[in-house]
Amino acid sequence: MTSTPPEPVTDPPATGKPATGAPLIDMPVPPPGTMGPPTEYARLRRDCPLAEVRLPIGATAWYATRYGDVRALVADPRLVRPTINDWPPRPDRAAGDEPGLTTMMELDGPRHAALRRALAEPFSVRSVRGRLPRIRQSADRLLAEFVGGGRPGDLVAGFLEPFPLLVMCELVGIPYAERDDFLPMADAALGAMVTLEEGREVTARLRGYISALLDRKRREPGDDILSGLVGECGRGSLDAESVVSFGLSMLVAGYRTSTMFLADSVHTLLARPDRYARLRDRRELLPGAVEELLRYVPVMNGVVVLQAVEDLELHGRTIHAGDAVLPVLAAANRDERVFADADRLDLCRADNPHLTFGRGTHNCIGAHLARAQMTVCLEALLDRFPDLHLADGHRPTWDDQAPSKSPLTLPVCW
Ligand code: HEM
Repeated sequence: MTSTPPEPVTDPPATGKPATGAPLIDMPVPPPGTMGPPTEYARLRRDCPLAEVRLPIGATAWYATRYGDVRALVADPRLVRPTINDWPPRPDRAAGDEPGLTTMMELDGPRHAALRRALAEPFSVRSVRGRLPRIRQSADRLLAEFVGGGRPGDLVAGFLEPFPLLVMCELVGIPYAERDDFLPMADAALGAMVTLEEGREVTARLRGYISALLDRKRREPGDDILSGLVGECGRGSLDAESVVSFGLSMLVAGYRTSTMFLADSVHTLLARPDRYARLRDRRELLPGAVEELLRYVPVMNGVVVLQAVEDLELHGRTIHAGDAVLPVLAAANRDERVFADADRLDLCRADNPHLTFGRGTHNCIGAHLARAQMTVCLEALLDRFPDLHLADGHRPTWDDQAPSKSPLTLPVCW
């Protein structure tokens, strides 16, 4: 069975306030107790495809919600990924401050290109395929421990959180056993992005951890990505600072997004038991189902922040140099212009050009790994727990303040 092909790309007539002169709105958030997306997105796509939005941190940003605009903006060279020093604007910032947290996303030009070249092979489809048996072993081991904890069990704490972390750590060469040391720092660094002082302090500690780890790799190289990058530095094709940036990217972005996608995906499947049963009984649907879950789950909710380096016009409005622009991947993925019946999860959707991994020079280098994690996660669950279901009388919990949401706990029985 296949889904109906997408409608031709046409803009329905605007029915509300025109984009030009539209008022500043508060950042849309998902309805409480749900993963979203915010209900406001449909209206924005229809009536105000470039909206000026007030973010919880006080700054304003342009929100782009239509597929065509998001696809173009995310790869537009007139928009760069700002460091924490460049955006949001802060009164406590001093000229000449060191960038707080420079990850791979904020690198550009030849240094970024050199790092992408060095990482292309270890993150390639071929390389990820070669690791599949090992990834499956990790899943089975964690699930065996999870079962030991008894019923109902929290699938987030027991499996959906540790699994992508373990897979990333093994591939990259970050000792999983040291997670209690680096995770609090990584979480604090993400949280501390709002105040510069805390940001400086925790970033210094995180950098210290990565630098010490790279020293260990220099002395005792392993079969992992960081050891490979340290070797490239020795040969002069990479600079040491770029490798530190990559290490930081892994700690702050290399697994949390996957955890959130896994938790939202499993919750979405279990919330309607016929969905889980369908995948269990028709395993051939799994590759398409993974792509559909990547489209449907709205985690990429204003998480890509860009900054204009020159003025640009869109929908009759001017984005000025220095303005922040948020191409909302989660809103683009629900655009009816491209996806027929876009708010419906269609496990058989045939044509699925979702934008979940971004596009252009900074697109997600971990996309193949993330797909492999989702596939193995679902396979391992379907094999071990053919009758997995949400535990009666134990509701999943949510952080309703966060713009990107996944269940914090997912009580299940089997
Ligand atoms: C479902 C899970 C994931 C999603 C939805 C996701 C999504 C994204 C997106 C949208 C970007 C582009 C950001 C931008 O344009 O500024 C990105 C960048 C990136 N992602 Fe992922 N990601 C996921 C998992 C992973 C994993 C597992 C890894 C590695 C272990 C990873 C590593 C990276 C890195 C290093 C970048 C920066 C690339 C660059 O700047 O050149 N991601 N990711």
